[in-house]
Parts: sequence; C-alpha cells; structure tokens
Amino acid sequence: MKLWFTLCIIGVVVVVVSAASATAGKEQPNVIFILVDDLGWNDVSWHNPDVISPNLHSLLDKGIDLDQYYVQPICTPTRSALMTGFYPYKYGRQLNVISPRKPTGLSLNYTLLPEAFREFGYSTHIVGKWHLGFCDWEYTPTRRGFDTFYGLYLGAQTHFSHTRSDGYDFVDQEETAFEANGTYSTFLISERTQRIIRESKSSEKPFFIYTAFQAIHDPCEVPENYIDKYPTTMSEERRCLLAMVTALDEAVGEIVYTLKAENLYDNTIIVFSSDNGGSMENVEGNLPLRGHKTTLWEGGTRVPGFIHSPLLGDTPRVHNGLFHITDWYNTLLEAARVPGQKARNSGMFENDGFSQWMALKEGVSSPRTSFVYSMAMNHGRRLFAALRRGDFKYITGIDDTITYETGPWLFNLSVDPNETTNLADEYPDIAESMRLELEGHKKDLVPRDIPATDKAGDPENRGGVWGPGWCEAK
Ligand SMILES: *[C@@H]1O[C@H](CO)[C@@H](O)[C@H](O)[C@H]1NC(C)=O
Ligand SMILES: *[C@@H]1O[C@H](CO)[C@@H](O)[C@H](O)[C@H]1NC(C)=O
Ligand SMILES: *[C@@H]1O[C@H](CO)[C@@H](O)[C@H](O)[C@H]1NC(C)=O
Ligand SMILES: *[C@@H]1O[C@H](CO)[C@@H](O)[C@H](O)[C@H]1NC(C)=O
Repeated sequence: MKLWFTLCIIGVVVVVVSAASATAGKEQPNVIFILVDDLGWNDVSWHNPDVISPNLHSLLDKGIDLDQYYVQPICTPTRSALMTGFYPYKYGRQLNVISPRKPTGLSLNYTLLPEAFREFGYSTHIVGKWHLGFCDWEYTPTRRGFDTFYGLYLGAQTHFSHTRSDGYDFVDQEETAFEANGTYSTFLISERTQRIIRESKSSEKPFFIYTAFQAIHDPCEVPENYIDKYPTTMSEERRCLLAMVTALDEAVGEIVYTLKAENLYDNTIIVFSSDNGGSMENVEGNLPLRGHKTTLWEGGTRVPGFIHSPLLGDTPRVHNGLFHITDWYNTLLEAARVPGQKARNSGMFENDGFSQWMALKEGVSSPRTSFVYSMAMNHGRRLFAALRRGDFKYITGIDDTITYETGPWLFNLSVDPNETTNLADEYPDIAESMRLELEGHKKDLVPRDIPATDKAGDPENRGGVWGPGWCEAK
C-alpha cells in the first residue's frame, strides 16, 4: 500500500514535469542561424542586381533587413563574438584567425550560445565551419554545447575534396567523415541541416541549428552549371564567386522548403549573416563600401544580414538601428526562452551584446547606439581600432593593406557611408572624445593570442587528417 502510494506520487510528478516541458518545447521557436563565409555587401541580389540569389531575396522580402549590421573583419573573431556575446579583443581573438597548427582555441571560460540554448531545452547542432580551435578535444563543438557536429574544424578548405594544406578535414560528430570526399560542401551542409530538421519531428525539443557554410571562401570551386548562369562578359573570378553565391542560395532555398514540408516553418526563426566583408581579391564584392576583409573600414565590417520569421509581424521592414554580431546571443535567447524561464548559467545580458528582440518584433528603435569595431596593438605599438558612436565613426591605426595611412579618420556615416570625407580636422572635439573613449576601452584589451606553430598538429601524425589531441586547453 505504502509502496503503491509512493509510486502514484512519483507517477503524478513525472506526468506533470513532462507535460510542462512538452508545452515549453512546443511554444519555443526553432532557430536556424545561417552564416556565410566572406560574403561582401555587393555579393547579394538586394544590393547588386547582377547577383542571382532569388531564395535569399524572397526571405528578405518577407523579413527584416538589418541595414546597419556589423560583424568582425575576419572569420574567427566573428565566430567568437557570435558564440560568446563578447568582443573578441577581450580574450585575444581579435583580427586573426586560428591557423591550422596553432595550439589554441576559443577560451573555455565562456558559456557559448549553444550551451545557453541547451539550458532552455533546445537540441543544438552545428553544420559546417567551426574555426574556433580543435587541438584539444575540449575546444571542439561537441564539448562546447553542440549535440551534433557535421563539418570542418578549420577554414579555407577545398570544397569537394575537403582538404586544407596536406590534411583532410570533414567530421561527423567526432569521427572523420571520409564519405564526404567528392561532394560539394554547400550541398553537404544543406543536406545535413535538412536531415536534422526532419529528424526533429520525432523530438520534443525545439532546435537551434548553426549552419555555417564554407562558401564563398576561396578556393573558388562550384559545379559548372552555376557558372553558366552568369554572362561571359564578367571576369572569370567574379563569375565563379557569384556562382558560389547562387549555389548557396539554392541550398538555403532547400532548407526553407524542408521546413515548410515538415510544418515547422511557422515557428522557426531564420537568421542570415556574413562573417566579414569580401576578401581583398574580391574587390567588387564590397562596393561601394571602402576596404575589404581584415580592415576596419565599412567594407570589412558592414555586411548583408537579415532575419526572417512568420513570428515577426509587419514585414517586410528595414531595421535602421545599429546591430552588432554580439547582439545575437541575447536577442536569440530572449526569443527562445519561455517567459519566466531563468538563465541560470547562460551569461545572458552580462556580455557586450544588446537584446534586439523587441526592436525586431515590435519595430521599436535599436537599444544600441555605439560599438567598438575592433581593437589591437599592431607591431609599432600603435592602437589599431575603430569606434562607432551614433552617426560617427572614428578609426585609427595603420591601414596596412591599402594606403599605409595612419589616420585618424572621422566620418559621418549617415551622409558618407563610403568613408570618403575625413572630418577629423573639422570636428576635433568629437575626434578627441572618441579617441579618449577608445583609450578607456584599452583596459579590457588582451594581446592577440597567436602561439607558435606546433608540428604536433601536422595531419601526417594522424593518418592525413586534421584532428584533436595535440595540445592542452588553457
Ligand atoms: C577568459 O579567459 C581569457 C583568457 O583566455 C581572459 O582574457 C578573459 O578575460 C576571460 N574572460 C572572463 C569573462 O573571465
Ligand atoms: C578523396 O578522393 C580522391 C579521389 O577519389 C582521392 O584521390 C583522395 O585520396 C580521397 N581523399 C581521402 C582523404 O580519402
Ligand atoms: C557611395 O558610392 C556609390 C558608388 O560610387 C554612390 O552611388 C553613392 O552615391 C555613394 N554614397 C554616398 C552617400 O555618397
Ligand atoms: C551627420 O550629418 C548629417 C547631415 O549633414 C547631419 O544631419 C547629422 O546631424 C550629422 N550627425 C551628427 C551626429 O552630427
């Protein structure tokens, strides 16, 4: 009798708990974050009619265009900011990628975005490029909050043979995925994203999928039929690059098709973002913005970005307020949590980001009025940095890839988005107050973490593949 009674109590408790989490799971929106590699301002059809990207364009046409959307000038820093919600200069990840044999990774003392999603009851997946370190297993995606990982540890691989330098790099969970050899990365990434969507049907949990395409990073490789869509009057390089955009566009279209086919579209948020501006070789890719990837000019940092979801009313709209890559952390978690659900360990709102969820949902103005583009001390011990405050941008340091000028420059971006007219002499007070503000931020500046190359990381030590197990995470 006593045992029976106890069992009943347990039974009731179990039923109540699982009913509560089922409701929570159903209410919460799914999130797909699409990150594209090296896609410039001028590489999308809504900024340049020569580009063929109808699927993305139609998402934008029913979504919210983030017109003042800023990322970091290069890959690893942007991914770090997205995953942590913190400026990368605070933990040494500014302005450099993690090169293949460098024994380091994204600092372990941050609760990454997927870990926070997990706390809110989500299943979490990364499909595509990681590039935040892998020398120790502790740095790898499945140890940092992702339930599943399908993709590459590094960057700049070949797109069919998945090779970087002398090593193969394509992974399924924690094993090398040799079966990916020969298939185009954009297709692999789209297909796995769709598989996760289909399989989520049998799960109680909402999903967070971080779909980080390898395209359109060099080497330029794409199935021939996409190149044929562009006129031969274009340069060969530009045709190839835009063909990669079109293949990617189709891949995104298929993901959206699958969401609809599985009846999940209505409760899903889709974010689209580039990780930095077009590369130096892709000069046309950022026009009319100045500069390119690796620079703090607008062409390196202001990129195409939008959010699309039937959950967002009154679309299409343009969000004119400032939106920074660190803002996604709080924004998406606010969208994801059930009202009242506590962020125990997520770090939510204790980082450099602003939640823009109300701004996106209700159309109120952006809570952000300024941001630091990036900050580093370069070899001459000169501060290389830029700051945004309202309309004004202050930039200082050496533009070592274009003009070898050192600045400082001051621009009123509301009238001069192309950064053509330096106002530093005209408004010395504004320039000085922004310089001082940057000086103030220097207290948080941690030197760039670029350890010496370690041969222990050579693929020849592990059968010709890139993989973990040759350093000690810090
Ligand atoms: C995390 O560790 C890095 C060093 O890897 C340090 O620079 C940073 O200040 C730490 N951040 C926090 C929030 O503790
Ligand atoms: C990938 O396939 C090509 C062509 O079949 C082959 O030459 C190459 O060795 C394969 N790579 C790996 C890592 O198996
Ligand atoms: C920026 O440059 C483009 C291309 O040269 C030009 O069409 C546009 O008017 C410029 N914008 C401003 C505000 O000067
Ligand atoms: C930037 O320039 C515009 C047009 O001249 C002006 O209206 C605006 O006030 C300027 N911004 C600031 C902060 O002075």
